[in-house]
Amino acid sequence: MSDMLGHREDVDRVLIDEKVIEKRLDTMAEEIDREFPAGPILAIVLLKGAFVFAADLLRRIPRPLEIECLNVASYHGGTESSGSVKFLDHVLPDVKGRHVLLLDDILDTGRTLKAVADRLMLDGCAAVHTGVLLAKDKVRAEDVQADYVGFEIGDEFVVGYGLDYQGLYRNLPFVGVLKP
Ligand code: XMP
Repeated sequence: MSDMLGHREDVDRVLIDEKVIEKRLDTMAEEIDREFPAGPILAIVLLKGAFVFAADLLRRIPRPLEIECLNVASYHGGTESSGSVKFLDHVLPDVKGRHVLLLDDILDTGRTLKAVADRLMLDGCAAVHTGVLLAKDKVRAEDVQADYVGFEIGDEFVVGYGLDYQGLYRNLPFVGVLKP
């Protein structure tokens, strides 16, 4: 059974369990729906890490919504930020005049959100509203905050609920810390 849950035995501790995530997503979705300007939302999901979070959050928002995904790479399979953000798609979504809800899994150094938000603004979007499941409590390389944060966590490497270590553990239903 543990194998079916994505190598549960490699996990040292569960930081945020499934039920707690679900409850928080209910309130985040309400906040977003209440605060977002009227009209359809254009959600942009950063792959791969944010796909689980985005799927669960966006299904809770009761209004017309378009979903685009962007492939960006900032970590390259390890636990340290590479310091550079690469756009991997040849064509980026058309964001001209749109209010975008930009979703990422985790706010760490801030480089990813900053780089993508800057690019979307350059491409003519009306405003970028950012949402992350997790924000690490640390001094960031970039002065950036998310408008919607699921949970503040300490400055440690986490996996699960979309987040990986060397490509694994994304399918864990909770956020946890691996054994050393
Ligand atoms: P930055 O540093 O740009 O980081 O804010 C955002 C991206 O870095 C990855 N990241 C992590 N991935 N566990 C992960 O699995 C972590 O603890 C972690 N911290 C940062 C992630 O891809 C995120 O989009």
